[in-house]
Amino acid sequence: MERVTASLNTYRALPKVELHRHLEGSLRLDTMVDIARQHGMTIPADVLRLSTLVQVQEEDKFTFQNFLSKFNTLRMFYRSPDVIHRITREAIEDAAKDNVRYLELRFTPVALSRAERFPLHDVIDWVIASAGEAARKHNVNVKLIASVNRHESAELAEQVAWLAGERIGNGLVALDLAGNEAEFPSQPFYGIFKEAKQAGLHITIHAGEWGPAAHIREAIEELGAERIGHGVRVLEDENVAALARERGTAFEVCVTSNYQSGVVGTLEEHPLMKMFENGINVTINTDDPSISRITLSYEYYNACDALQMPQYTLKERIVAAAQAGFLPDDEKEKLVAQLKKELKL
Ligand code: HPA
Ligand code: ZN
Repeated sequence: MERVTASLNTYRALPKVELHRHLEGSLRLDTMVDIARQHGMTIPADVLRLSTLVQVQEEDKFTFQNFLSKFNTLRMFYRSPDVIHRITREAIEDAAKDNVRYLELRFTPVALSRAERFPLHDVIDWVIASAGEAARKHNVNVKLIASVNRHESAELAEQVAWLAGERIGNGLVALDLAGNEAEFPSQPFYGIFKEAKQAGLHITIHAGEWGPAAHIREAIEELGAERIGHGVRVLEDENVAALARERGTAFEVCVTSNYQSGVVGTLEEHPLMKMFENGINVTINTDDPSISRITLSYEYYNACDALQMPQYTLKERIVAAAQAGFLPDDEKEKLVAQLKKELKL
């Protein structure tokens, strides 16, 4: 335990870049208890019982169905504009405390609007307002990504894409396709992502996580993905790996999430280093820090300890993440220079 604590502190001290973090997977447990009490929710308001519903437990089945089920329970908590403001502020405060310097926070407007049928445009504007405020207060550069689920309707996705496109320049920079990749195709979303890209949004797609490498090709060629969420099955098809190398596509890898959703049987089997050795532009991210009960520091530790990533490579990957960020060139240059200086690269 001593050793782990000591090494975790070294990772805490590093300046960090997070490209793949879901707001809905970042709620503090104490805050959920507060919300449950304030809104008289029937959900258990004690921390331990609540945790079993919204966070992955050691004794859970490590399947994507179980992983996704946590998000369904979490949808009950978005009960007022104040709740949405609070969870956004706290997610950014928690990232800042973990020494995250650049955060791309993705959120799912359809999820946040569901319990109280809030208009999608209101929900998006609440997240934008709170994110801006918290970013200034905690001195962290934050950009937002609107996320839509494959297992929900294309009509809703189209509305979100449209509203997001209208808000480029307010800190909202990209569109993401998430959700049940194993059972729901992305074909119904081709046109929506094409238009979103034309409107000026960046594109990142969850692919090759719970589905085959072919989904990564589809994400790049049909949906216009500049980055891939997870993509850990890329090496299963050499042609897809070659395409990703050629394009320099950045992969937002989330090691613990992959373990907990059943993509790999053990942490040690995770292909992060194989991807890197095969020329894939990997970055290290959390996905859902609260659901997985992790921090980005912990994921850096996992990469170096369980997966044997050399420290130098980790630092270089932090800079690679900054270079793959959806931020304007001048901001990116400053961020990269600052990181290189602090990381002594
Ligand atoms: N995959 C798909 N959808 C998601 C994930 C994920 O890892 N996390 C949150 N929504
Ligand atoms: Zn994700």
